[in-house]
Amino acid sequence: MTKQIDPCTLVLFGASGNLSRVKLMPGLFRLDAAGRLPAEMKILSVGRGEVSREAWLADIKGMLDAKFKKGYDQQVFERFIERNFYHANPPTDPNAFQRMKETLSNDKVFPQNLAYFLSVRPSDFAPVVDQLAAVDLLNEENYWRRVVIEKPFGTDLPSAKALQASITKHLKESQIYRIDHYLGKSALQNIMLQRFANTLLEPIWNKDYIDHVQITNTEMLGVGDRTQFYDATGALRDMIQSHILQTLALTAMEMPAALTPEGIRAEKIKVLEAIRAIPVDQLDKHAFRAQYAAGEVNGEQVPGYLEELGDSSSVVETYAALKLFIDNPRWEGVPFYIRTAKRLHEADTRISIRFKKSPLQIGDGQDQNWLMLGIQPRECIKMEIQSKIPGLDINTRTIQLDAANRQDGDESIDAYEALLLNLMEGDNSLYLHISEVEAQWRLVDPVIEAWAKDRQPVHQYPAGSRDPEASKVIFEHEDQFWRYSIELGGDAH
Ligand SMILES: NC(=O)c1ccc[n+]([C@@H]2O[C@H](COP(=O)([O-])OP(=O)(O)OC[C@H]3O[C@@H](n4cnc5c(N)ncnc54)[C@H](OP(=O)(O)O)[C@@H]3O)[C@@H](O)[C@H]2O)c1
Repeated sequence: MTKQIDPCTLVLFGASGNLSRVKLMPGLFRLDAAGRLPAEMKILSVGRGEVSREAWLADIKGMLDAKFKKGYDQQVFERFIERNFYHANPPTDPNAFQRMKETLSNDKVFPQNLAYFLSVRPSDFAPVVDQLAAVDLLNEENYWRRVVIEKPFGTDLPSAKALQASITKHLKESQIYRIDHYLGKSALQNIMLQRFANTLLEPIWNKDYIDHVQITNTEMLGVGDRTQFYDATGALRDMIQSHILQTLALTAMEMPAALTPEGIRAEKIKVLEAIRAIPVDQLDKHAFRAQYAAGEVNGEQVPGYLEELGDSSSVVETYAALKLFIDNPRWEGVPFYIRTAKRLHEADTRISIRFKKSPLQIGDGQDQNWLMLGIQPRECIKMEIQSKIPGLDINTRTIQLDAANRQDGDESIDAYEALLLNLMEGDNSLYLHISEVEAQWRLVDPVIEAWAKDRQPVHQYPAGSRDPEASKVIFEHEDQFWRYSIELGGDAH
């Protein structure tokens, strides 16, 4: 369904930064190439440095050349480049925002609906909103005004609330677009579609049939040159508080009355708020952390996290796992095991659901059914079922039904393209509501706090290995453990 987009101007703060270079400018270009940008739409990039329009346009060309190595359509390029302008906002200039307002007031060039994308440091989110308000650039009297806040929205519940209090002095909730770019991924949107558009799945998607759910995000990469950022953040804050809890919400939510932005968000909020608080006095049974030690990845020796950081006293986790329960009738008693890790044996983002034992057990050790939704690198749905081994005897084995969600010729859309399009359409269903952000921080904050206080050396796992055996402590039952791979046999240990 293609939605109507009003003519608008995208004001891009931090346009010279990494995110803009790698995702936003290329994403906007691809939307233009797909004919999805309104003809009049303009992009005003805002940065601290004095840069001429000519130099800025050359810089954009460099971004596109770097991204699209096989080349791109020259006609689209000409059209795209015509849309682009630059405004210098030096921090020393007290009139910088007033000047920006004057530039934007030229309605012959700039459509007057304004979307501000704050691709700047998190500490600058609130000050930029204050300054926009001070020059009356957030007033929606005649045209809409929308503000995109990049991740992270706060670093804990109090700081998220403080940021919210600051920006809502000037903005209504409907004007605020909080990013969790995972939600822009087609494979994540597919969770909801596959659940609710198939008669087959929904009836068994509950505690009567499901033994437990695993939500996994593992990487083979280490922290690279982001050691300082990572040590101030950790796996729980970086991945679980945001992307993984959103994936869980889409997996566990009830069906919205209608697939409207309000309907979807309302159900996600309900399920996030129904997750039981993690008991800090029994943390060991509910949460597990570890750090990668030196090891081998892709045949190469790699150093451990503490070595890369150059600080052996750090207790910051590169592996974080939680056991969660959702207190509602659908999920009563079903454990959700969620984990994220760097430098594991493979890179994989998926949802794995194990079903309860079947009433018919043939022999010992018959496998249970699994249903898996692959998000990355493979977008797929896989199901493991028991089937008779041909022959005279009655014996079963596990076979895997495997369907790729992606087919030859399908469009491959980057998450940011979808998010930018939704921003211009005024559809915030793929952006976070403040209640979701708060519920997510409320859940992880006590664990982050307890882990930060506990200065004992953290469990080490060799880079390139499977999940540490020690993480078994969080599992409810002896026969449950991480499914280490989406492939057949990936639950064998
Ligand atoms: N990169 C990613 O993939 C990614 C992923 C998730 C979230 N994010 C979030 O997206 C936002 C932008 O990320 P980024 O990686 O693009 O950041 P970045 O490269 O560090 O910088 C973004 C822009 O901020 C301005 N800036 C940098 N240092 C500054 C300073 N000391 N004072 C004032 N302005 C400064 C610069 O613009 P000017 O010099 O032109 O003013 C720069 O282009 C951040 O909030 C980040 O948390 C990024």
